[in-house]
Amino acid sequence: MTKTTRLADMLRDSPILRLAGAHSALSAKLVESTGFEAIWASGLEISAQAAVPDANILTMTQALSAASQIAGAVDIPVLADCDSGFGSVNNVIDMIRQYENNGIAGICIEDKQYPKLNSFIEGNQDLAPLDDFVTKIYAATQVRRDPSFTVVARIEALIAGAGMEEALLRADAYTKAGADALLIHSKKSTPDEVYEFRRRYAGPLPLIVVPTTYNSVTATELEAAGFGAVIYANHAVRGSIAAMEDVLAQIYKDGTTFHVEDQIAPLKKVFHLQGMHAMLEQQSRFEKLAAERLAK
Ligand code: SPV
Ligand code: MG
Repeated sequence: MTKTTRLADMLRDSPILRLAGAHSALSAKLVESTGFEAIWASGLEISAQAAVPDANILTMTQALSAASQIAGAVDIPVLADCDSGFGSVNNVIDMIRQYENNGIAGICIEDKQYPKLNSFIEGNQDLAPLDDFVTKIYAATQVRRDPSFTVVARIEALIAGAGMEEALLRADAYTKAGADALLIHSKKSTPDEVYEFRRRYAGPLPLIVVPTTYNSVTATELEAAGFGAVIYANHAVRGSIAAMEDVLAQIYKDGTTFHVEDQIAPLKKVFHLQGMHAMLEQQSRFEKLAAERLAK
């Protein structure tokens, strides 16, 4: 089964699909080995690893390069965060071709203006006109070559303060436009508003949530409420920042690395993650095969 079909199936089927954010091939491998079924190539994580704001400072090419490195490192499918589509409908059309060509299983675009601003920052969170975003979603579904390539429409009405009625109106419009799933984003500290949205959205599409601020809710509770997928969007990069800070501070304070050894991954693990032993094995296998060929 292809990665595109796997992602599309897992979004539609039970149990709830759990995705975790990644920002690099290495973090993607850790997401995969933990057991998550798919990866979110997070705009926030990818821009954080470049130490620039999550505000379309990185170009589409840079975001794509990160997402394709992530996809190339793992066997599980990657859903790429494509912000508001990097521009107009013409940018979205080009983006779909390029993401499809680079082994990505699906993309998500959000109904905000270009340049977008991270949803948790006070500032311009203005929504895109509904017809503009419908055009982007419709075009995305028409130009994809693989019909299983997932197109997620992300609704920012609750983030923008435009209200539940606007969110539901947009949900219906994006469903009609041909989206494969809807992501309903919220910055509330409880899941109440995404629960209300779930109850009131009568369409057939799977609903995705990102419980960054309503973080006490469990995947089991979200599944019971009827959600199709949950994204832990930024926890890998936040975990790595905290871990790097602790280790570096300890070394700086102690003047030796002795006390951090049991806090950090052994070199053996680093070699394993970068495929060092597999590389050496492949080298000796090919040297042997080539020598046999020469001897014939
Ligand atoms: C991301 O991970 O980049 C997202 C999710 O878009 S959020 O940061 O919650 O908006
Ligand atoms: Mg993002």
